[in-house]
Amino acid sequence: MKLSQRVSQVQPSATLAINAKAKALRAEGKQVISFGVGEPDFDTPHHIGEMAVQAVRRGQTRYTAVQGIPELKDAILDTIRADYGLDYLPEEVLVSCGGKHSLYNLFQAVLDPGDQVIIPAPYWVSYPDMVRLAGAEPVIVDCPESASFKLDPESLRRAVTARTRMLILNSPSNPTGVHYKPEELKALAEVLLDHPEVIIVSDDIYYRMLYNGAQWANIAMVEPRLKERTFIVNGVSKTYAMTGWRIGYMLGDAEVIKAAGKIQSQSTSNPCSVAQWAAVAALRGSQESVQDMLEAFSQRRDYVMERLGRLPGVTCPEPQGAFYVFPNVSAYYGKTVGSRSIGGSLDLADYLMEEAHLAVVPGVAFGGDRCIRLSFALSMAELKEGFDRLEKALGRLG
Ligand SMILES: Cc1ncc(COP(=O)(O)O)c(C=O)c1O
Repeated sequence: MKLSQRVSQVQPSATLAINAKAKALRAEGKQVISFGVGEPDFDTPHHIGEMAVQAVRRGQTRYTAVQGIPELKDAILDTIRADYGLDYLPEEVLVSCGGKHSLYNLFQAVLDPGDQVIIPAPYWVSYPDMVRLAGAEPVIVDCPESASFKLDPESLRRAVTARTRMLILNSPSNPTGVHYKPEELKALAEVLLDHPEVIIVSDDIYYRMLYNGAQWANIAMVEPRLKERTFIVNGVSKTYAMTGWRIGYMLGDAEVIKAAGKIQSQSTSNPCSVAQWAAVAALRGSQESVQDMLEAFSQRRDYVMERLGRLPGVTCPEPQGAFYVFPNVSAYYGKTVGSRSIGGSLDLADYLMEEAHLAVVPGVAFGGDRCIRLSFALSMAELKEGFDRLEKALGRLG
């Protein structure tokens, strides 16, 4: 069958591919430890599930408004007012089937062939491919480890051209866990004020997952003049351990939100009605479970940093948020074991999977081949076993 040119331009998600490989090995009876997971290892809190059950019992199982039920839009507006200190109107919110879908709709609604989108690297795997699917061109700006993998104002200024339509910011970041301080955002905002045609996507999906009292902010909060061209993307997946429920949302300019809603109306229609009610309970209900989850992640993060510190030649900026680390393992490139030689992150990930039954995501998928991504959304026992295996496997490379 002939496939479209569009689909031939995109790669399958690397993280999903790693997880599939891990599953296949497990099916053979192998004890695989997966550092590849991109979701909390906690169950959705009970009261959220209960709300969904009640929604089913009440018969709230039909099509809803494409943009989302008013009760959820209200809960989102209140959450954003409380957490961001920003006010939006109901017509400035679109609820979609996950934050990923929000991004997809937005790109389809505003990007044209020839448009450029600035993506600081390391980046979340899906951004470049979603940009390409909209016919636009990803412009990758490398952000070195020495700058904690963050975009600096000068690099941003150099990357902007007459064709730049969008900048994507993601803080805290997947894959690095680093977050932008308010003054760093302010410096980027200064550059953007000189380029009024550039819209900003603020992917805030990990905004509640911050450690050691780190202060969170996004660019529209630190520079209100950018609010009208900033699009906030957020959702319940990570904060409430609700990845399978598929509820995300976007806030921004009403005309663009309407256009993105039009794309949604001709593809998925509304997000699942029952999941929308569950999301109302997540945003309106007790936030105790979020705190409990954060405390667990915080302990794991400390443990992971301690174990990474013991690996010879490995360096890693400390993550202040999310549940990932992105260690630089390039000291092991060029080494061999038996007939196998390690040329880069893909080879290392293959070696770890095949020889140590350890799943890690190669950094090249995030635009950082010197690194691998490790998730710490695992139990302490699994983390310990995983790091024991990693230490041994790296030690065998000579
Ligand atoms: C940076 C980032 N943005 C957005 C998403 C989308 O999450 P969801 O579609 O589950 O809301 C993810 C999920 O892995 C992510 O890591």
